[in-house]
Amino acid sequence: MDAFIIQGGSRLRGEVTVSGAKNAALPIMAACLLTGQECRIGGVPDLADVRHLSVLLETLGGAVRRDGDALTIGVADDGDVHADYDLVRKMRASVCVLGPLLAKRGRARVAMPGGCSFGPRPIDIHLRGLAALGAEIELDEGDIVAKAKRLRGAEVFLGGPFGSTVTGTANVLMAATLAEGRTVIESAACEPEIVDLVDFLNAMGARIAGAGTPRLVIDGVESLEGAEHRIIPDRIEAGTFMVAAVLTNGEIHVRGARQDHLMAVIDKLRQIGAIVDPDADGLCVSSNRHIHATDLTTLPYPGFPTDLQAQVMTLLCLADGNSIITEKVYPDRFMHVAELGRMGAKIRKEGPTAIVAGTKRLVGAPVMASDLRASAALVLAGLVAEGRTKVSRVYHIDRGYERIEAKLNPLGARIERVEV
Ligand code: EPU
Repeated sequence: MDAFIIQGGSRLRGEVTVSGAKNAALPIMAACLLTGQECRIGGVPDLADVRHLSVLLETLGGAVRRDGDALTIGVADDGDVHADYDLVRKMRASVCVLGPLLAKRGRARVAMPGGCSFGPRPIDIHLRGLAALGAEIELDEGDIVAKAKRLRGAEVFLGGPFGSTVTGTANVLMAATLAEGRTVIESAACEPEIVDLVDFLNAMGARIAGAGTPRLVIDGVESLEGAEHRIIPDRIEAGTFMVAAVLTNGEIHVRGARQDHLMAVIDKLRQIGAIVDPDADGLCVSSNRHIHATDLTTLPYPGFPTDLQAQVMTLLCLADGNSIITEKVYPDRFMHVAELGRMGAKIRKEGPTAIVAGTKRLVGAPVMASDLRASAALVLAGLVAEGRTKVSRVYHIDRGYERIEAKLNPLGARIERVEV
């Protein structure tokens, strides 16, 4: 198992290029199950999650070939329809194959994902949406078994207690592309990753309108074709580098970062003290040498993303006063709080809220990564901590960042990957 040894104290300066978005690539790879023709997808990050989904597609009759940052995916129609627990357990996004399998092959058997390190993550809304399209769904030995001769268009509401659902929208949307007639999804997720999926599906011949709004209208078609597509840049990876620039009092040109996908993040970082200058290639981010305390609430897009909550918490640990962070998407997503505490952070958690009392310094310590974004927060903390930080279990970070140390070290970071 790998760990990172980080020597803190460097100011990060220079240029870094953002990879393609993990959370766009995964559903788009699953969408390849909707056609018997080959698809070519560019900008696919080489991540553990992408490799897991490739294995799953192969067990479902697919052939996945990587060539640089592009994947060519071809799927034979007559493959297995079973996504077993071993794969789903490794990566929850495996559940994205449910809608496409059901729509294309008329049946799917997908292990029910369990909770994750930041709490319960139900998929009831996915299942309600697919049932509204006419699927018969039952649970059998921990697997969701879904069947439908042909799905039928319907009006589907996908809102839940924490807003819409991103992969739920992806699942129902993909299923509806091949349904008979019109489907209207209300309270659809508006995330840029859903817009990217819609662009890919439309390139395959789907008829979907309303991407980026809470109302998607899908006119079902008889079949879809192979298509070419390039994945959007990863707004969460970009946001992580932006935080690194402010935190280390540095200056980073984040190439590929899209201002239109990062409005809430840019706004919040400016309140905290960042200088953010958009240019033709991305965003130039530096610090005005002062980190201001602030209030922050995570929300579905276009609100502040939950996937950057932990990283901004690290930044606010060094602010000039008390900050309040409220998590409205995953109320239990605070695994990083205790680990940041080991580095001298002063954070008190009350329900879905963390009160962060700014302190002058963080100190290096051995800490443990618990989930993907929490690990990123610990790596960031290591960059500014006095002395040496050891972050264990970096396989979590490898799920969502393409060799983060290879991107940060050229900017001046001192991160060594070691085997332990
Ligand atoms: N929810 C339900 N029922 C459902 C589905 C969701 O109650 O059927 C609740 C969830 O428990 C949560 C909220 O709705 O409280 C939002 O969950 P959502 O379904 O939108 O999350 P997801 O689709 O499983 C994706 C990303 C996550 C990201 C969330 C929120 C992918 C593969 N994953 O998850 O990314 O945090 O949206 O933006 O797209 C990450 O990259 O680190 C990550 C966890």
